[in-house]
Amino acid sequence: MTWSRRHVLATDDWSRDEIELVLQQSEAMLEVLARPMRRTPALRGRTVVLFFAEASTRTRISFELAAKALSADTSIITASGSSIEKGETLFDTVRTLEALGADIVVMRHGAAGAPYFVAERVSSAVINAGDGWHAHPTQGLLDALTLRTSLGALEGKRIVIVGDVLHSRVARSDIHTLVPLGARITLSGPATLMPSAWRCGQLPAGVAFEEDVDRALDGADAVIALRLQRERMDAGLLPSLREYALTWGLSEVRVARMRPGAPVLHPGPMNEGIEIEAAVAHGPRSLIERQVTNGVAVRMALLHLLSTTPGAPAARGGGEADRREGKEVAA
Ligand code: NCD
Repeated sequence: MTWSRRHVLATDDWSRDEIELVLQQSEAMLEVLARPMRRTPALRGRTVVLFFAEASTRTRISFELAAKALSADTSIITASGSSIEKGETLFDTVRTLEALGADIVVMRHGAAGAPYFVAERVSSAVINAGDGWHAHPTQGLLDALTLRTSLGALEGKRIVIVGDVLHSRVARSDIHTLVPLGARITLSGPATLMPSAWRCGQLPAGVAFEEDVDRALDGADAVIALRLQRERMDAGLLPSLREYALTWGLSEVRVARMRPGAPVLHPGPMNEGIEIEAAVAHGPRSLIERQVTNGVAVRMALLHLLSTTPGAPAARGGGEADRREGKEVAA
């Protein structure tokens, strides 16, 4: 399997082999991160611009650490304090980024589809770090890596995703990454926080909906709790936060319905006491910190792979010698 993608926008059209390739490379990057000297020269001389027009802590820092571990030059542009506040269009901002020499643009944006708009118009490679409600491909991949490390092969495993699926780009990207790897997904949460077609039974292959979270968790292999995306909610979708916590929040009693030792994941940031109790978030089943470390490895793998795409600008100038050097990184 050779990598040929110029951008990472969503995993909904990826083959299982492509997902496997990224996971294998991420495992190699985890080994790099475990070394005393956590830096390799694979992206030396390349510029990675982190363009974050929406709030982010872990995703932004994780991409920054990943780019630095590969020796890339990085610049960060956030919405506040940049020309976006002065009304500059998305297109003009990104043209400016390209003029500044960005080989790879990592972007987070509140509008679904924004990274596609940019990818069609610039020569830089684009990685989607979350676009509106639509997709968050690197989160899907890091969740797959985390689950695979804990559970082994995901074939036939049943993963519960609980909470605000309607507003969650994480849920969508998890489905698009885990189902091709053979996992089955059970979505759970209030019907008002499910896409209407899914609530009515028109679900993608490999996905089921069970409103009762206790039934969903019975015998499950893992659970991913989602944040209640209150900034994206219209009023009236939930009776109250307290009722949500009681009915769908992950408590110790609830998670004990899963298979013994079945892990708990959450993309962060968490509303502790609402979608997840502190004792679960920080308890023995929690892989939430591991997700953060794995996130750096997945982003290193993707940055590196994009720099090897034949003919891509991110691979410019480096030529075969650099590509060989890059291969050694993951070897
Ligand atoms: C998620 C996001 O921003 O989509 N967080 C993340 O990337 N770590 C989930 C969320 O905000 O709830």
